[in-house]
Amino acid sequence: MYKSQLVSILSKPSFQNCFKRGLATSHPVPTQPKLKTFKIYRWNPDTPDVKPKMQEYQIDLNKCGPMVLDAILKIKNEQDATLTFRRSCREGICGSCAMNIGGRNTLACLCKIDQDTTKETKLYPLPHMFVVRDLVPDLTHFYQQYKSIQPYLQRDSVPEDGKENLQSIEDRKKLDGLYECILCACCSTSCPSYWWNQQQYLGPAVLMQAYRWLIDSRDQASAVRKEMLQNSMSLYRCHTIMNCSRTCPKGLNPGRAIAEIKKQLAFE
Ligand code: SF4
Ligand code: SF4
Ligand code: FES
Repeated sequence: MYKSQLVSILSKPSFQNCFKRGLATSHPVPTQPKLKTFKIYRWNPDTPDVKPKMQEYQIDLNKCGPMVLDAILKIKNEQDATLTFRRSCREGICGSCAMNIGGRNTLACLCKIDQDTTKETKLYPLPHMFVVRDLVPDLTHFYQQYKSIQPYLQRDSVPEDGKENLQSIEDRKKLDGLYECILCACCSTSCPSYWWNQQQYLGPAVLMQAYRWLIDSRDQASAVRKEMLQNSMSLYRCHTIMNCSRTCPKGLNPGRAIAEIKKQLAFE
């Protein structure tokens, strides 16, 4: 009984027309491929005599997700398994897919593909860094610099209840806009001062974390932290060019954090 009712409803012309219209309007099936060209930096450490080159790939944007990470995953899966890049979370949390896309340092997973198929999109590794392979920069020195600022809570005394170091709501608020940094290195590698002095200058990402610990009301190592920055290179190579804050894919402002450290050191 039930089955026959269902068959009769589905076979009614009004239902079928409605069903076809629905499909036609909400899920149009594109007939023409929408081909987009990507030019991608390639270098293989296993063939050090072969110079780096830009390699061209074309993909159909109608069959690809909206982000640049979708495009390079598609290229890797369907055209060239040797293409090498880092990625993990695909949602702007891990920071591993940072690269230079169309001239700007950003995260491939948060960067929309430019839908203009007349223009190619160029992809390079983060600038002025040693390259491990293709789009993978060597971040060893960057992480060493981060380690050097001792990015953890330091106290001489234990909390009164022996459990937690409490903080007022106001003091906690001061860390907003700082703790969200995912250490992607987009800012540091967009900074001209960091390009030329990165052996000694800490760069915006690391300095912003230095500031994050300097102003944490629970931390008791601020004198040592300031002392570490009191030299001509670690901090004062920043000339307030502000490339760092312009490029941050998380909308943070490392340039302002650096200015705040300078103020603290000047008026201590
Ligand atoms: S503001 Fe300072 S850290 Fe930021 S890009 Fe300019 S020089 Fe570099
Ligand atoms: S401040 Fe922004 S660009 Fe710099 S490392 Fe943090 S998240 Fe990345
Ligand atoms: S894949 Fe994690 S930030 Fe892009």
